[in-house]
Amino acid sequence: MATVRIPDEQRTLTDRDEVTRYLATLGIDYERWPDNERVREDASVEEVLAAYAPEIERLKQQGGYVTADVIDVNPGTPGLDVMLAKFNREHWHDEDEVRFIIAGNGLFHIHTQAGPVLAIEVEAGDLIRVPRGTLHWFNLCGDRRIRAIRLFQDTAGWTPHYTESQVDEGFLPVCFGVSHLPYQQP
Ligand SMILES: [Fe+2]
Repeated sequence: MATVRIPDEQRTLTDRDEVTRYLATLGIDYERWPDNERVREDASVEEVLAAYAPEIERLKQQGGYVTADVIDVNPGTPGLDVMLAKFNREHWHDEDEVRFIIAGNGLFHIHTQAGPVLAIEVEAGDLIRVPRGTLHWFNLCGDRRIRAIRLFQDTAGWTPHYTESQVDEGFLPVCFGVSHLPYQQP
């Protein structure tokens, strides 16, 4: 279940309906997909995509997504810090950012047009769709682990446009889930 924090307003949302409604006001879709025992955490990419085929097909039809893949990182992933350095600076895409979390945790920061920055902490079973053009950045949590299905409208895949605003530097990449370790600089 995702948690939403709005530091400027000192608000934290943890109720599923409240999170869903609040994110919808920003054009961000949030869903919970039943994931219990559907695939093993170490299932192959093909097995994962097959297990979630009904939901993936629904999203493809709704959002015009043409490809799906599985991103899988853990503390042992070669080049992990170089990869994370691409995600953790404020950027936008010309297409939606759609992620369904299979394992691990992650922290999206969204820089809303109205001003406030919010942090969305996601975990297994969470589907999030951030509309194209939305300013955002992403960090792992202390476990430095995430496995997620990604959907793309463009077969070229993940293409960021960086703002270089440095707004991201004003927000600590800290997750608050009970099972999370404190973030440590590598
Ligand atoms: Fe992104």
